[in-house]
Amino acid sequence: MSSKPAVEQPALATLTTNGQTYELPIITGTVGPSVIDVSDLYSQTDQFTYDPGFTSTAACESKITYIDGDAGILLYRGYPIAELAEKSNFVEIAFLLLTGELPSKAEFEEFNHAITHHTMVHEQLLKFFSGFRRDAHPMAIMCGVVGALSAFYHDSTDINDAYQRMVASRRLIAKMPTIAAMALKYSLGQPFVYPRNDLDYTADFLHMCFAVPAQEYKVNPVIARAMDRIFILHADHEQNASTSTVRLASSSGANPFACVAAGIACLWGPAHGGANEAALKMLAEIGEVDRIPEYIKRAKDKNDPFRLMGFGHRVYKNYDPRARVMQQTCHEVLKELGITDDPMLDVAMELERIALSDDYFIEKKLYPNIDFYSGITLKAIGFPTTMFTALFALARTTGWVAQWNEMIEDPSQRIGRPRQVYSGHTEREYVDLAKR
Ligand code: SDX
Repeated sequence: MSSKPAVEQPALATLTTNGQTYELPIITGTVGPSVIDVSDLYSQTDQFTYDPGFTSTAACESKITYIDGDAGILLYRGYPIAELAEKSNFVEIAFLLLTGELPSKAEFEEFNHAITHHTMVHEQLLKFFSGFRRDAHPMAIMCGVVGALSAFYHDSTDINDAYQRMVASRRLIAKMPTIAAMALKYSLGQPFVYPRNDLDYTADFLHMCFAVPAQEYKVNPVIARAMDRIFILHADHEQNASTSTVRLASSSGANPFACVAAGIACLWGPAHGGANEAALKMLAEIGEVDRIPEYIKRAKDKNDPFRLMGFGHRVYKNYDPRARVMQQTCHEVLKELGITDDPMLDVAMELERIALSDDYFIEKKLYPNIDFYSGITLKAIGFPTTMFTALFALARTTGWVAQWNEMIEDPSQRIGRPRQVYSGHTEREYVDLAKR
């Protein structure tokens, strides 16, 4: 009898192709779908896998965020999103996502102090804004200015130095609110408002957005709490398109500032982070409850590119757990601001009711996602529609930075280089112009 414990053999998937059978290892995580490791498939079979939307593809192993789309579950480092949104705060969530654990009191104070003291940007950065038109989309400004940060912080761009990665991570988390607020002020033609160390992260952001030199601005604590909760809801979301963009850009060794700028660019799309802006525009276009059936009909029409913005999700085939918290937050904010008859909220709630009882949406498992109620809330707080995705980028920077660190520290990670199935011309000879 062997005294050595039996080494557990990895489970195997078998694949038969071109008349041969191959065994592929199966990797099982702590929870959720296991994966079939196909990294050696090409060398064994001379064939690639094919999955253009990455619907069935795991690009990495991660310990940060877990989503169960069928059950509508979202965990940050194992903690349920609704509990974190109720009991935690955004700076603590940033620490949790980055390190994997909730901070002790001393750890939180050190981290919060560091973030607070990185909120200012180099004064030269202000000059970048004056090159933009005042009506430039804030996301265009964010792409440009965040990417330019790499020109200012040569002391934190060596991705192989853990200390420099930590400094760059804290700089990005700390400076995004300042840059987002500057983008808002620039679009309004108002002077930039500098960060204040006596205010916490989210109150400071609101102060930079809405204070003017002409009078003192008192941050409404109920609105600050709601804004902080909105940041928590948007902080991370597994391997979504923009996070995958940051990971792919980082896999070449590019500096974190440039990689986050790439993530911002990807997030801007209306199918992704741009959906909050698009959802509010859609609600405004629908305008009133009795026009909803016309739009439901359009959303179901295959020949009409119109989709219900803020509905549907690649992963959630149940209610997005963030959307529930977002809806509660929306009601809280409207109540605090004394907005009792927002026609867009009436349209949103009736649209949700109708859609959730419509066979098309039920069959395709289309539910409201986080973007459905966020726009109404942000508009009520005072943000122009064009700022909505910039706020999403502000919050998601924490997730991008956590995922970036995890990728850099993963020994199995290499430069991302997908292949293709080629369907173009086979080799052919050049034809001189005179003979064409
Ligand atoms: C975010 O990935 C993430 O985690 C993203 C995110 C994050 O936190 O990072 O959660 C943030 O991006 C949320 C999603 C925001 N986008 C929107 O609200 C835009 C509207 N939604 C759709 O564009 C769509 O639902 C997607 C892009 C979100 C998901 O697209 P998929 O997974 O590629 O699904 P699909 O487009 O293939 O749709 C499946 C079917 C299709 O019908 P069939 O071709 O099967 O007949 O559902 C239909 C679609 O036509 N459909 C919709 C619809 N969404 C999907 N029909 C009407 N209205 C919609 N909103």
